[in-house]
Amino acid sequence: MALLVPILLALLLGCSRAGPERGITVRFLDRPDRNQAWADAIQAFQAAHPDIRVELVEGPSATNAREDLYATSLLAGDPIYDLVFMDIVWLPKFAAAGWLLPLDARLAAGEQADFLPGDLEGSRFRGRLYRVPMRTDAGLLFYRRDLLVARALAPPRTWEALVEEARALQAPPELWGYVFQGKQYEGLVVNFLELVWSAGGDVLDSQGRVILDQPEAIAALRWLRDAIVRHRITPPAVATYEEQDSANVFLQGRSLFLRNWPYVWALTAESPRVRGRVAITALPGRADAVGISALGGWGFGVSRFSRHPEAAWAFARYATSAEGQKRYALRAGTVPARRALLHDAELVARNPHYPVLAKVLERARPRPVHPKYAQISDILQHHVSAALVGRTEPQDALRAAARELRTLLASPRTP
Ligand code: GLC
Repeated sequence: MALLVPILLALLLGCSRAGPERGITVRFLDRPDRNQAWADAIQAFQAAHPDIRVELVEGPSATNAREDLYATSLLAGDPIYDLVFMDIVWLPKFAAAGWLLPLDARLAAGEQADFLPGDLEGSRFRGRLYRVPMRTDAGLLFYRRDLLVARALAPPRTWEALVEEARALQAPPELWGYVFQGKQYEGLVVNFLELVWSAGGDVLDSQGRVILDQPEAIAALRWLRDAIVRHRITPPAVATYEEQDSANVFLQGRSLFLRNWPYVWALTAESPRVRGRVAITALPGRADAVGISALGGWGFGVSRFSRHPEAAWAFARYATSAEGQKRYALRAGTVPARRALLHDAELVARNPHYPVLAKVLERARPRPVHPKYAQISDILQHHVSAALVGRTEPQDALRAAARELRTLLASPRTP
């Protein structure tokens, strides 16, 4: 059934836009097209390449749900998606499975240096390039500047300070202290790991041993749970929030702080309740150490099963060019993955936080880089969520997660 869905979808799309189709159609899957940013990029590309039609298949908003759709199709050797628009965490799995064409010969080394180093690094697998970064991402703290200024408070530098300020200023349920992504999906893993890293812990140590049951990680999970039940700065409904749900609470003026990705900035300008009242800073850390954001981001790979790899590459090349990235970023409010664009006057004028973001990106950390990341994440999603909603104690949750991770990583089979 899962396999049939993309096939049916493609057939339907093909039929609904029927007509004399002479040229080639190149297809990829992404989240729904925010602000018509893809529609605009596709139109610009097609104007210069009238023989190639590019089709965006709009999928679910959660990254792991789209990953499943791609993986099901690619596992079957299905040629439906010519391009794979990939989250940085999918790459090792997709490359190891042999689903992607190497791109080293297509992107000159000199040009590769134009991309942000973390994004490029996350696009390689065993020394070869399989993805061209399109947009980068890093976790940021959005806050209500007006409310903090009114009480002469500075934005929090530690998670403890965030709790204090939230408790001092909040008035739930009209105004909560802090919202984040707490639903059982990849976003929860990101929020959890940022806290773990800030506490000095990690999932694996430098030797690849699982250290998730250590005190730092347990403290991080306890902090998340405490935010809801002890400090009561976070609504219990956070356990159902993806990025946009948490952003909506903030955009409606109902939260003092929000952890989210940079795209939310553009939305603050469109939201009368918070317009002109928001600022962005780096995520909090510990008293003696700055916070650490997860490195996210998206880019194009070319499917090994595409019947039109040249046409697919032509679009990927355009979309990831300086012009393509800027055009898309201006509409979608996302951040380009080419270094120079972080200093582009037009983009900076719209995104005054780019200097802060550039610093955050320098120390942003990748999630475990592993062909089994999807399974690692599934284990984390399950146990972190169980503790967040109070089904398990943080310590027990992470002990169980660590046990499962050890078994998973000891087994030689890749997915
Ligand atoms: C953003 C990030 C991506 C991450 C996802 C989690 O889309 O760019 O890397 O996996 O959020 O929800």
